[in-house]
Amino acid sequence: IFKTIIFIVLAYLIGSLMSGYWIGRFFYHKDIRDLGSGNIGTTNVFRTLGIKAGIIVMILDIAKGVVAVLLPVFFGSIAVSPLILGLIAVLGHCFSVFMHFHGGKAVATTAGVMLGYNWRFFLVCFAILLFVLFLTSMMSAASISSFIFGTAYTFIFLQDHLLSIICVIATLVTLYAHRENIKRIFKGTESMLPLGLRYWL
Ligand code: G3P
Repeated sequence: IFKTIIFIVLAYLIGSLMSGYWIGRFFYHKDIRDLGSGNIGTTNVFRTLGIKAGIIVMILDIAKGVVAVLLPVFFGSIAVSPLILGLIAVLGHCFSVFMHFHGGKAVATTAGVMLGYNWRFFLVCFAILLFVLFLTSMMSAASISSFIFGTAYTFIFLQDHLLSIICVIATLVTLYAHRENIKRIFKGTESMLPLGLRYWL
């Protein structure tokens, strides 16, 4: 049980690492929270700091989820499922101890958790994200859709009850984190990326 608690704390601290904020601060001398959507996640880093910073932040934020679920593989098994560690890392990302319990919107870190836990399911969610991004040009709509339809997919096609529960919780967290985006989507003012049909039509 002691080891389990250490792993849970570690997963939370790993999730709390704010690569978007720190890379903006140290390499670009900018506070990402004052730019674009104000989010510290991958999309806003791409949008405001450019492709190179975006790719680095995306890899680091995905890696947080992968590392958290793989902790038991590296350091020995514990009493809880690796998925719980993954969820804790996602919570760390959204409610970071280094950011006064603010943070990102759960997308890249959850992607990492799914990649580390079940890469086939990760690909399903990623395909949903790309499809909705292609239609709407909105990363927020694409992210939210991949959570909702990915969760539905687990109930319909996978007999992994814990995964389904974790997906439901992660979806609620991401919906909460995207609450301003959701308002903007309904108002028609959500920002678009030049990556989909909607942007060009
Ligand atoms: O990665 C988060 C994405 O879904 C939305 O980001 O910056 O457009 O609020 P942003």
